[in-house]
Amino acid sequence: MSTTPATSTRTEYGITEYPDVDAIVKRCDDLVAIPPRPLRRDRMEAYLAWFESHCGGSKRSAEEAQERIPGGVQHNLAFNHPFALNVTKAEGAHLWDVDGNRYIDFLQAGGPTVLGSNYAPVREKVVELLESCGPVTGLFHDYEAKLAGLIHDFMPAVEQFRMLGSGTEGVMAALRAARAYTGHEHVVKVGGGYHGWSDQVVFALRLPGTGALDAAGIPADNLARTHEFFPHDVDELRAVLEANRDRGGTAAVIVEPVGPESGVRPVPHDFNAAARALCDEFGALLIFDEVVTGFRLGLGGAQGYFGVRPDLTVFGKCVAGGYPAAGGVGGSQEVMSVFAGGLSSKGVKVLVGGTLSANPLSCAAGYHSLLEMERTGAPLKAGQAGDRLRAGLERLIDRYALPYVAYNFGSIVHLHTSGVLQLDLRDPAAFGEVGPRKHMLEEMGAAFAAEGMITLAGSRLYTSMADTDEVVDDALGRFDRVFSGVAD
Ligand SMILES: Cc1ncc(COP(=O)(O)O)c(C=O)c1O
Repeated sequence: MSTTPATSTRTEYGITEYPDVDAIVKRCDDLVAIPPRPLRRDRMEAYLAWFESHCGGSKRSAEEAQERIPGGVQHNLAFNHPFALNVTKAEGAHLWDVDGNRYIDFLQAGGPTVLGSNYAPVREKVVELLESCGPVTGLFHDYEAKLAGLIHDFMPAVEQFRMLGSGTEGVMAALRAARAYTGHEHVVKVGGGYHGWSDQVVFALRLPGTGALDAAGIPADNLARTHEFFPHDVDELRAVLEANRDRGGTAAVIVEPVGPESGVRPVPHDFNAAARALCDEFGALLIFDEVVTGFRLGLGGAQGYFGVRPDLTVFGKCVAGGYPAAGGVGGSQEVMSVFAGGLSSKGVKVLVGGTLSANPLSCAAGYHSLLEMERTGAPLKAGQAGDRLRAGLERLIDRYALPYVAYNFGSIVHLHTSGVLQLDLRDPAAFGEVGPRKHMLEEMGAAFAAEGMITLAGSRLYTSMADTDEVVDDALGRFDRVFSGVAD
């Protein structure tokens, strides 16, 4: 077991200083106003050659996987340029590939492992559970109630919790519940936000204004009641809510409380409160998608940090501590009663389910992960690592006079180099920029990997408790080498 001293973090958060959102937005606007600044070609070719000389095993397995797996890759966030790495070991702050290369892990599986990868004290509890009842029985297990109780202790707005299989399922359930509860049909999301891949939210993904661009295979009807507004534009949100009032009303406004895509467009500190007030005015539910922020920012989630009470909260990732079947939805007893039927829910019963949802393994993993996160102060430590990483990146950006932008919400660190996610498609000229800037980002991600760091798509870095000062400083040395090769 870890020897870290016990410290309660129930009311503490990993954000020590709120980012200066206006300054960041200005820097991002400046980044896209000039041509992209990729690596010099010789540098990039050398990085790509590194994969050929050091990653033969991964290359072979990537080629083989193409035979039986469409595209050869199943993880949306997986690093796959020039080919997918085959990772065989994960521990603490590091990953190892099949060829024996070691990487600092800033992907963190997309966010759930705030304690670091494959954290032994949680693994031991999971093995204990597996030995006693296996992963699933289809019947009630104590861990279901223990997890729901713990979540309520951390997030008082979550009076009741329904465990599901993924964040995607949590969003589906939340939207369905909001419609059943309010009797309204329309839902509103922030342009660029990702809320999983269910039919009604594959709309305006990544970049605001892209509408149904990614909605291949989804009938237009399924998106007819989904609306977007430009990130954090309160006036536009009001206008959408007004328009919806004339067509039957809004069931819910769903937001990621630090901004779309974990804050790719960072949220002004007062936005969530403004969204809360608008929801109250228009009779809509406010849904916080805390799939990433839930427990990572602090055990009280973004709702605790911002002091804004959502009607429904969607969970994923950390809720199962990096173990499978991580998802759920929670909220007040009154709203959540729609999942149970009966008198208090006006007799409405919203159907949700899943053979493996709320299985004992996921619930035990989530319960013990959250307890360990509290005991060790993991969200705070991960946040401090994020602060150190961001400060170091800013120093490098200054030293090399680069137009890049780095900022963080605790352990969620953003590094914008190509600016592709900052493009404003309200300007038609920006469409032509998407391809080249996206390619630059892919190459940046490859350069970081060749320097021994796995990032989320080359532009986001999640830190964990395992990222000690030594690990972060090691990473900064690697970033230094990459940035020293940027073209003039
Ligand atoms: C904010 C947000 N919501 C929902 C989801 C979907 O969760 P899942 O991948 O568990 O379906 C994600 C996944 O990355 C997410 O980041």
